[in-house]
Amino acid sequence: MTGRQKVTVVGAGNVGATAAQEIARRDYANVVLVDIKENLPQGKALDLNEAAPVLGYEPNIVGSNGYDETADSDVVVITAGLPRKPGMSRDDLVTTNESIVGSVTREAVERSPEAVLIVVSNPLDAMCHVAKDVSGFPKERVFGMAGILDTARFSTFIAWETGASAKDVTAMVLGGHGDQMVPVVSATTVGGIPLTKLVSADRIEEMVERTRKGGGEIVNLLDTSAWYAPGAAVAQMADSVCLDQKRVLPCTAYLEGEYGIEGLYMGVPVKIGAGGIEEIVELELSEDERNELDKSADAVREVVGVLAGSS
Ligand code: NAI
Ligand code: 2OP
Repeated sequence: MTGRQKVTVVGAGNVGATAAQEIARRDYANVVLVDIKENLPQGKALDLNEAAPVLGYEPNIVGSNGYDETADSDVVVITAGLPRKPGMSRDDLVTTNESIVGSVTREAVERSPEAVLIVVSNPLDAMCHVAKDVSGFPKERVFGMAGILDTARFSTFIAWETGASAKDVTAMVLGGHGDQMVPVVSATTVGGIPLTKLVSADRIEEMVERTRKGGGEIVNLLDTSAWYAPGAAVAQMADSVCLDQKRVLPCTAYLEGEYGIEGLYMGVPVKIGAGGIEEIVELELSEDERNELDKSADAVREVVGVLAGSS
């Protein structure tokens, strides 16, 4: 026993392998990579182990086509499923990925009944419902990665626009992980100064639109979806769980009345510690932002309604 925690990443494709590498580099957890493709998780795990002497990390990374090695994981990250192709929306993936996420969740939770589940597969908000339903876990231990990525995209555009360091941009993108997401301009500052005092309303609107379509912009360039920023975002969530950091991060959480939304997964700021979500933080929104959040909730409800398991 090394005393390290254990993180399983299911899906050893672009996002899964990048998340595994980011987590391994932090040194606090051994990592298990699982995929249905023969040799893929084993090959990537070997490569990641062989990077350790150069990069200076010590955790063990194991690749497998089964789940026995995942037993007693502290965190399980679910990235298995198809990514988008040009012309596809995230929602087009719903039926295929519902069955993949369902089966993967079943296998993983059987061996790690106390784990925190971080869902990544798209359509993200709907896949969180699948993972919660199949696992039977409490809502605190099933949540999704999207808001950190969407916020990172918005922050990048703001840093470029203002010439400031991305480190000094504070932003928050809420709502579903779709084109109706809600960049909260009223809570966005650069070095403490409100964005609205630094950038014209037209330019802000352009950045908001680019953020909403940020996933598609990369799909059009690469023929598949992004992985560097998504992998880094997953690792930030795993950090907060494994190190009990209590970070407040935008994540996709199950709402029961917060923000006036009932029984739906949506992106909101949450405090994350060792047991998962400890608190849902309710921001004060402008009337426009509140209306946009409601519209985003309607869009998420529509996709959730398409799930075969929905009643
Ligand atoms: P990828 O195609 O590179 O990797 C997916 C992997 O899942 C493949 O290696 C595949 O063999 C594996 N897989 C498929 N069925 C499986 C099963 N039943 N059990 C185990 N493994 C299985 O795709 P990529 O780019 O890594 O994306 C993964 C998912 O994450 C996609 O659904 C994508 O849309 C989503 N995504 C979500 C983001 C977010 O912000 N929530 C950001 C980026 C991607
Ligand atoms: C992204 O936003 C496609 O959800 C993926 O990059």
